[in-house]
Amino acid sequence: MIPLIIAVDGFSSCGKSTFAKSIAERLGYAYIDTGAMYRAVTLFAMENSLVGDNGIDRIALLNRLDDIVISFRRNDKTGRNETLLNGRCVEDDIRTIKVSEKVSEISAIREVRKKLVALQQKMGKGKSVVMDGRDIGTVVFPAADIKIFMTAREEVRIRRRYDELKGKGIPASLEEIRENIIRRDYIDRTRAEDPLKQAEDAVVLDNSDMTVDQQMEWFEKILRKHQPHV
Ligand code: DC
Repeated sequence: MIPLIIAVDGFSSCGKSTFAKSIAERLGYAYIDTGAMYRAVTLFAMENSLVGDNGIDRIALLNRLDDIVISFRRNDKTGRNETLLNGRCVEDDIRTIKVSEKVSEISAIREVRKKLVALQQKMGKGKSVVMDGRDIGTVVFPAADIKIFMTAREEVRIRRRYDELKGKGIPASLEEIRENIIRRDYIDRTRAEDPLKQAEDAVVLDNSDMTVDQQMEWFEKILRKHQPHV
């Protein structure tokens, strides 16, 4: 089988990871959540007092970049993909609202992006992967075989994020989530380095009124166009 790279980019909390994970499972491909990698760097910065209320200590963070090792593993007991920061499972710690509040600033730093983009390219090289993020189809794999740009109405995204965090027992109010999503989208779209934007050859999926099954049906059509024999 020829390796296929599927890039899924889009706004915060529009269900990219649920969609990307479902595709990966359906096709038996690896799934890489690049947002988790930026979140892990942010957690590292927070735990090492490199970011606080007064902002980021950029120079100190850059000096510590080589100390940050990010990897993924599949937990066979839960069936979950877990993010590891220097060998420690941080899957829940990186999803808190505190990390969400800082992650867009950290991910706007050029050197952080350079490190993570190189790692993402290495993880995907020569393999069949579904990778989700903000710049996968534009920067990480500009020659990806299938590019999907996801979006959903703001209210829908806020509610989804709220339900997701509630399901994990992570406290956050609807108002906090609204502020965070609006702010992150703004920073992600307007930053100088690799901003969030739709690749010219991406197909848009607005999943505001779609179930996961309907999204999978939509994807099957895209896949058949790309690989008529599937
Ligand atoms: O997908 P997510 O919400 O977990 O991503 C968290 C943040 O990481 C997001 O606000 C922007 C940043 N990010 C990025 O800059 N580039 C990516 N490829 C993925 C995420």
